[in-house]
Amino acid sequence: MGQPVRLGGWVHRRRDLGGLVFLDLRDRTGLVQLSCDPDYTPPDVMELAARVGVEQVLLVEGEVAQRPEAARDPTMGTREIEVGVRSLEVVGPAITPPIQVAFKEGEALPAEELRLKYRILDLRRPELQQNFVLRHRLLQRARRSMSDQGFLEIETPILTKPTPEGARDYLVPSRQYPGEFYALPQSPQIYKQLLMVAGFDRYFQIARCFRDEDLRADRQPEFTQIDLEASFVSPEDVQGFVEQVLVDLWDEAGHRIDQPFPRLSYVDAMERFGLDKPDLRYGWEIRDLTGAVAEGGADGGAGSPAPFVVEALADGGRLRGIMVPGGAEFTRREIDGLTQLARDAGAGGLIWARRRDAEWEGQGVKALGADSASRIEAPPGDLLLAAAGPDDVTSGVLAAVRAGLIGRPDARPSSEHAFCWVVDFPLFERDPESGEPVPAHHPFTAPHPDDLELLKRAPTRCRSTHYDVVYNGNELGSGSIRITDIELQRTIFRQLGISESDIGRRFGFLLDGLQFGAPPHGGFAIGFDRVVMLLAGAESLREVIAFPKTARGQALFEGAPTPVDPQEISELNLELKRQ
Ligand code: AMO
Repeated sequence: MGQPVRLGGWVHRRRDLGGLVFLDLRDRTGLVQLSCDPDYTPPDVMELAARVGVEQVLLVEGEVAQRPEAARDPTMGTREIEVGVRSLEVVGPAITPPIQVAFKEGEALPAEELRLKYRILDLRRPELQQNFVLRHRLLQRARRSMSDQGFLEIETPILTKPTPEGARDYLVPSRQYPGEFYALPQSPQIYKQLLMVAGFDRYFQIARCFRDEDLRADRQPEFTQIDLEASFVSPEDVQGFVEQVLVDLWDEAGHRIDQPFPRLSYVDAMERFGLDKPDLRYGWEIRDLTGAVAEGGADGGAGSPAPFVVEALADGGRLRGIMVPGGAEFTRREIDGLTQLARDAGAGGLIWARRRDAEWEGQGVKALGADSASRIEAPPGDLLLAAAGPDDVTSGVLAAVRAGLIGRPDARPSSEHAFCWVVDFPLFERDPESGEPVPAHHPFTAPHPDDLELLKRAPTRCRSTHYDVVYNGNELGSGSIRITDIELQRTIFRQLGISESDIGRRFGFLLDGLQFGAPPHGGFAIGFDRVVMLLAGAESLREVIAFPKTARGQALFEGAPTPVDPQEISELNLELKRQ
């Protein structure tokens, strides 16, 4: 027996072994074994040790001892030592926990809903604790990185005027002004622009954002951004600041990443990968194969393409496909799996053909016609996966097929960390329901300087200065150069169908700000929770947010949202509609 120690922690496990009691005591730093042995542990303490339950909080006094070689447990950080117990006190009694905290390797966790309901127990799991240690370190490093680059941390309000970012607002009724509301910020976008007008030059904030939108594994209604804005900058300057923070964050997690990140335009990304967040760890680029079919024409003979292909091309569509080296060995079942992905993404089916030797074989030969197929070049062993139709359909379909290929257990990435910039996004897109132009991002994004003349004539063809940073197929963040010309900003609002009075009511404070001498400026926001999730190797944002919401927006532990007292509703001058 050696050094005396005093420890506090939670009972992780208890084992009774013929008169000896072993307790694993857990705290934030890990586990240590407490050994209670009648040779040195007083009888009353032995008796108490035999009764303590898991997850109770103990204060223990004892002495450090070497563990016998054979009893060292490689899963415990303190595997070489144990503590011989002299005294023990239960300072935090606990009822039997409804979900366990200690799991054996490979043991299934309880359903997530149950874990969220008992979140504080789930948060005690060492894996989740590690996520929050990482989150803390990344947060400190992000602050240091921004500050070292000359950015000032400035907080902007939480009770705000609405800032549109494409989601619904969470509204907060005002008690003093009946019928009026604050909105929780979807992002600090307008405020950070006003800070530029106020002369702060380089701003950043670890900003909490609130968006009432449909949730997925990579979305939460309340989340955190590393938000920044700078004056007198080009898009490349902003991208440089962002790359530096990302290099620093990845370094903090023990990874070295290469710079500069490759850049590709939105149009190229859609053409080569079918989506605007390509996973560049893999090849399998999309090829345009229209020429092979169009060249031969269609005489309806055995060598001709099937009518669905002919029609798709006649309607202005294209034949696009992915060549999979070695894919000729895929089983029919594997190809059917990829076909199902294509169907789920809106295709009637997937055209496929294998190149075993010099000839193509498979269903695709019929679809494309033998003559057309013979014009598609590929080495033996390749598998062709293709779709015919309008680009907006084939892009989505082939992106889904590519994701299926990436998900295969034999897929080998060419690198571990593939960052890229996607630039020159469109300024507007068409709302799928109304057909009206809506901002592809937010309405403060400056149009691409070369496309200003398209703004009125062909708005949906007008490019913007918007850029995204993408990591292994995940959108990590976005930004742009902003509009500082009041007239241009008004034009964009009008184009979005916002009436003059609404422009004044919703954005008057921004337009007022811009008239007092606005420096050219631009910025960016990195989704911090996503960064932590990816660096922690977590599957969902819920694993890196202490008290997250469910996919249906509920906080299960604390029970929110919740009905409120009718008195409070009335003090807010509100009335509830009967349900
Ligand atoms: P944007 O809306 O693209 O841009 O958001 C930036 C990044 O924030 C993350 N993010 C989310 N993370 C978790 N849950 C959500 N619901 C969620 N929504 C977005 C993403 C996204 O890339 N004001 C602009 C930035 C700018 O122009 O400077 C903005 O907020 O990682």
